[in-house]
Amino acid sequence: MTSIPIHDTAFIIAYYRSQHEDISLDPYAKLWLRPSLTSFASDFSLHVSVYDELLHCFRNRYFLESLTQLTSEGDWLFINIGAGFSMYPYLLSDRVTTLEIDLPEIVSFKKEAIKKFTSEGFLPHRNVSHSAVDITNKRELEELTNTIKTNYIGLQTVVLIEGVFFFLNRNVIDDLLRYIADFQKAGDVTMCVSFEDSSTSQEVFERLKNYFIEHLNSKNNPFTTLPNTYYTSLSKYVLKKSSSSFQVGKEIKSLPPTLRESDVLNEFFYTLHRC
Ligand SMILES: C[S@@+](CC[C@H](N)C(=O)[O-])C[C@H]1O[C@@H](n2cnc3c(N)ncnc32)[C@H](O)[C@@H]1O
Repeated sequence: MTSIPIHDTAFIIAYYRSQHEDISLDPYAKLWLRPSLTSFASDFSLHVSVYDELLHCFRNRYFLESLTQLTSEGDWLFINIGAGFSMYPYLLSDRVTTLEIDLPEIVSFKKEAIKKFTSEGFLPHRNVSHSAVDITNKRELEELTNTIKTNYIGLQTVVLIEGVFFFLNRNVIDDLLRYIADFQKAGDVTMCVSFEDSSTSQEVFERLKNYFIEHLNSKNNPFTTLPNTYYTSLSKYVLKKSSSSFQVGKEIKSLPPTLRESDVLNEFFYTLHRC
């Protein structure tokens, strides 16, 4: 298998989810564990936020529950953009068709590993395709749009973009949502995650940025945040539902009652319906 730098964020999120299966509801995240993730997670917890591990589990729980509910009726194509090592298809009904998009090195590594896990009986069989697309590249996005339009006729689509906008420039996000709107039909769904603009005044957000720059080779990362109004002003979509990792944690009573939103790296979740 191709080796991937151990600091890759997608591995770390899988580690987080594996540490609290009862909260993340992901029993398969542990398939991606490797030894050095433990010391990375402790260091991050010490220098940035002790709650980030739990908050990522709330995020997975929220989207798994939303996807399960949405796809319980009808024939769906689930497109996960920047899928990393998330494992939703194996936790959803086998009637759901999935297309996972990520950068080439993640795609080839995950594809090979999934084949192995499935043949060894660690994962149930699901209809999942993996496609290497750099979503910052318009030509590649155009090819992706054409593939979706020709290969998946007759399916409703739900797109998830989770843990990705932070790493993309605002103009790339605008373009990406335009390309998605081009293949989605009325009633199709797009779910997004982003930090709110107000996060930038939090000390914990400043620590996150510094940590990325110092330890994750992210000097050129834009650390993009978006206002809530970004999602209400999209011309092709209606915002149907929103929540946040902090809100989910409070709802399921898995955070200390005295903890304030301003103390954590709170990500917001938006469910948009194509009009
Ligand atoms: C923080 S991880 C999130 C993974 C997954 N969505 C989750 O929540 O567990 C970000 C993912 O976005 C992918 N990614 C970053 N830039 C990308 C790009 N330009 N095109 C495609 N995928 C990208 C990374 O490879 C990585 O898998």
